[in-house]
Amino acid sequence: MENLDGSILDAPKIKVTPPGPKSREILKIQEEMETSALNYPKYFNIAIKEARGSTIIDVDDNVYIDWFAGVAVINLGHRNPEIVNALKDQIEKFWHYMEIPSEIRVDFLKEIRETFNFDSKILFTTTGADAVEASVKIARWNTGKRFILSFDNAYHGITAGTLGFTTLPSAKKFQPYYDNNVISVPYPYEYRCPFKDCLNEVLSLVEYEVKTHEIAGILVEPVQGEGGYIVPPKGFLKGLREIADKYNSLLIVDEIQSGVGRTGKMWAYELEGIVPDIVTVAKGIGEGIPISLVAYRKDLDKLPQAFHLGTYRGNPLGLAVGKATIDYIKKYDILNRVVSLGEYAKRKFSEIMEDNYRGSFDVRGLGFMIGIEFSDEKKNPMSEFVTKMIRNMLKEGVIMYKAGIYNNVLRFMAPLTIPRELLSRGLEIFEKALKE
Ligand SMILES: Cc1ncc(COP(=O)(O)O)c(C=O)c1O
Repeated sequence: MENLDGSILDAPKIKVTPPGPKSREILKIQEEMETSALNYPKYFNIAIKEARGSTIIDVDDNVYIDWFAGVAVINLGHRNPEIVNALKDQIEKFWHYMEIPSEIRVDFLKEIRETFNFDSKILFTTTGADAVEASVKIARWNTGKRFILSFDNAYHGITAGTLGFTTLPSAKKFQPYYDNNVISVPYPYEYRCPFKDCLNEVLSLVEYEVKTHEIAGILVEPVQGEGGYIVPPKGFLKGLREIADKYNSLLIVDEIQSGVGRTGKMWAYELEGIVPDIVTVAKGIGEGIPISLVAYRKDLDKLPQAFHLGTYRGNPLGLAVGKATIDYIKKYDILNRVVSLGEYAKRKFSEIMEDNYRGSFDVRGLGFMIGIEFSDEKKNPMSEFVTKMIRNMLKEGVIMYKAGIYNNVLRFMAPLTIPRELLSRGLEIFEKALKE
């Protein structure tokens, strides 16, 4: 039986309805001691004891199937044996020395650069938001222009620097303080598009704004992540590429959620055959070890010394994991796995929804980035329903999370290595929760 990532194959096993007594105790201490700004424990009210592959064990010994992957980070499963070995090797050598080069640093650089379809330079950062901030700085520095074009419902991080670009309603309430010279236009969200010809009308709006303002860069998610796993129509990235070229603006593709194989391509922009100017990478490349980076066209490398410094950038443990991740994806043909299992999962989600859901819905996605949007017959968002689904699925032993401007999209973002039977069992639980 195939078990690439060492998952617990007979998951889920729910011994006590979550949250069990030990989880409740730990959650209570967390609530007393940690910030009121916490988000995720409001949905997954359990405390974790251990994680293995595509499965999680809580402190009450419940075992869950993980369709969340720590928000699309653990692409190769928790404690994947080959990632553990890479970490162990590096930890025996050293784990921090800023930008001073080492063998692991150059090995990683060689491998990551080969994954891009352009001659790149790499700037290391620490988090996704840090990478986005650096990418925007590079675009502004190179073009001498001030504005960034972003899209409605985009998520690029919520640091003070990225809040201007993140236009998702849940973050908008923080935005008045962090404008950051941003102009935003609608993303081609076909299920809720106000235009007749969604793609072309969005592209003409983009062109109008880029022509009218001094736009240093067009910052775009090739598939919107937090916005609801929205796949734009074919031709969108190509259209943006043409507009950027026409008006001497740079195309920044944010691959933080869609990258590292999640859509069935190493980078989602490959699906449109475009060549970006700047790419941001985080999440899956470090498998949970905080490392991120910006890859940019070599001819944009006119950056002055100490342009974007940071104590922890290019951490050797992250580099070791990053290299092992790229090797693993190649060795086990993970991209083809994601395409075929992703198509199977999407088809099953559609069938289950057709058989069991009476309102309007949309099942969409690429690879292991699948969104299921829930609405009533008049397309009003069913946000409460989705919150209930998350709770019901957790009780049955599957960890699944939401997305979307109305919080009415469930998203499938399991590790790319999930054993097939855990995928099928999760789908059965999804159907059961839906029926309830
Ligand atoms: C597309 C995209 N960009 C940027 C970020 C921000 O990354 P981080 O949370 O590491 O700052 C995220 C996080 O979800 C993301 O999905």
